[in-house]
Amino acid sequence: MNLTLHIWRQKNSDTPGKMEIYQATNVDEHMSFLEMLDVVNEELIGKGEEPVAFDHDCREGICGMCSLVIDGRPHGPEAGTTTCQLHMRKFKDGDIIHIEPFRAKAFPVVKDLVVDRSSFDRIIQKGGYVSVNTGGTPDANAIPIAKEKADLAMDAAACIGCGACVAACPNAAAMLFVGAKTSQLAQLPQGQPERLARASNMVAQMDNEKFGNCTNAYECSAACPKEIPIRVIADLNRDYIRSSLT
Ligand code: SF4
Ligand code: FES
Repeated sequence: MNLTLHIWRQKNSDTPGKMEIYQATNVDEHMSFLEMLDVVNEELIGKGEEPVAFDHDCREGICGMCSLVIDGRPHGPEAGTTTCQLHMRKFKDGDIIHIEPFRAKAFPVVKDLVVDRSSFDRIIQKGGYVSVNTGGTPDANAIPIAKEKADLAMDAAACIGCGACVAACPNAAAMLFVGAKTSQLAQLPQGQPERLARASNMVAQMDNEKFGNCTNAYECSAACPKEIPIRVIADLNRDYIRSSLT
């Protein structure tokens, strides 16, 4: 199939960007979206032009690095799918596709389609972990955990930290991400000692990073490639309120 691509080009965060038009020809429906961009880039390099910068790593939906807004939707048109797992069979010959970076004040553009998501790292550094002296490896079943709790923790732990929730939110809020990270640990006995301080400190850092506030648009969960449920935001809000009462 042949496609027309409108791609955001931006030299760096200090330079204004704009959409540029490229033709992608002989695109195979079995290609992933990123493989299609690889072919476009090889052609640009062959012509002596600057290739389009975009983020990726695992290309199998687990690292959270890919981060494109495709036709206005973070990670594109397929629900529950990262950009790297999106395939060209979702498009048809002659389509015009618009490709932009994740847009949020807390995710400044580095170049073209690459944004700086280190604000997420700084939120995690404020408590997205359990502080324990690990010693030797404990037996897997040494601390019994109810199946229901384990399932809730695993659902929240599916978050890959991609930031699509922020890009989809009209307020650029990071509540789904922070809720996933806090709710995951709040379900487990090991997460209890630091539970309320974790919620308080991570929310404070989220505010410092200039993410917006949640107004229940629910766009975050709809865009999330791991389908993190909205209830993690309620879990976070409960712990945050409890932390302010202690
Ligand atoms: S909650 Fe979903 S959209 Fe947000 S960072 Fe985690 S995986 Fe990505
Ligand atoms: S490149 Fe790793 S999740 Fe897409």
